[in-house]
Amino acid sequence: MAIVTVDPSGEEIYLPADQTVLGGLYAAGYAYTIGCRRGGCGVCKVDLLEGGVTYDHPVADDVLSREERQEGVCLTCRAVPDGDITVRFRSGSLRLVQPLLRSLNEKSRLQAAASAPQPKE
Ligand code: FES
Repeated sequence: MAIVTVDPSGEEIYLPADQTVLGGLYAAGYAYTIGCRRGGCGVCKVDLLEGGVTYDHPVADDVLSREERQEGVCLTCRAVPDGDITVRFRSGSLRLVQPLLRSLNEKSRLQAAASAPQPKE
């Protein structure tokens, strides 16, 4: 599992393991400006402020350049979080469009947090 924190709102969204950032946010009831959903247009880029991601498919350099990767730009339709991440949206903003899905996502997040191993004292 991973938690996606949205900067600057602080919204926290739960993503099951191996889910892309875009897939997880849409499944949690959110929407934002996207294009192809296949890693081909670059419309879904966000700034990755904390954490790392792995791409589930190769991403062409003309869509996400080496410089952008080094600067922390993230292609959300192909990026799978390695752990908790913090992102900032570039164009447009994240919109909650399905509040029921959001509340289900919050329950999943709380259940996952409760079942996570506790640090030893
Ligand atoms: S939506 Fe086109 S690259 Fe992500």
